[in-house]
Amino acid sequence: MRIDVLTIFPDYLAPLELSLPGKARAKGLLDLRVHDLRQWTHDRHRTVDDTPYGGGAGMVMRPEPWGAAFDALLEAPEGARPTIVFTTPSGAPFTQEVARELAGRERLVFACGRYEGIDQRVLDHAASVGEVREISLGDYVLNGGEVAALAITEAVVRLLPGFMGNPESLAEESHEDGLLEYPVYTKPAAWRGHEVPPVLLSGDHASIAAWRREQAVRRTAERRPDLVHASVLLDDLEVRLVQ
Ligand code: ADE
Repeated sequence: MRIDVLTIFPDYLAPLELSLPGKARAKGLLDLRVHDLRQWTHDRHRTVDDTPYGGGAGMVMRPEPWGAAFDALLEAPEGARPTIVFTTPSGAPFTQEVARELAGRERLVFACGRYEGIDQRVLDHAASVGEVREISLGDYVLNGGEVAALAITEAVVRLLPGFMGNPESLAEESHEDGLLEYPVYTKPAAWRGHEVPPVLLSGDHASIAAWRREQAVRRTAERRPDLVHASVLLDDLEVRLVQ
């Protein structure tokens, strides 16, 4: 997978050199390049923003540097059609399902907006050269899209085939089956007066699986009732019926 990140704060993306994405790059699964949008400005002040047409507070990112950046990065006609991700609080929510979708793309370009956002014509233009996705990290406002691009990249890259040593660990994670993950324990069996639930020490795999499932459903119902779909309840009923 090739990922390009366009930002006016390239240093924000430095953590991508570390840890998980760093490992993917070392394994040759990921070609990641971070670009300073200001390299595509031509005035002395390297201006990327201006006042909004129609008035109002704040500044809007001008279209020209974005257009020049897309021209420079996306000109090769033989390359895969890119998916251009605009990180914005007015985008669709980022979920594990979206991460899985993006992990199937060959080419991602992150456009990190700042200020009050990017001139809409940049998005309209981007839609003529690639697939446009406007994605929000959550219902809160960050200073810019860099942290969102970082989070999305990390969630996507760990799903790339060949990245995880043990792909089974992916299947058991929170959100993969529509539920939050059950609580986990390791040694010692008793610690500061807290015991590991006895079923986990029983060696009875069916009982352990049933206990974990119940814990996951209970946790999800308490913390994220919005995630408890009818299908989950139905699955749960079927699990109980076959026992
Ligand atoms: N930029 C500012 N806030 C954001 C958010 N919540 N998600 C994605 N990009 C953003």
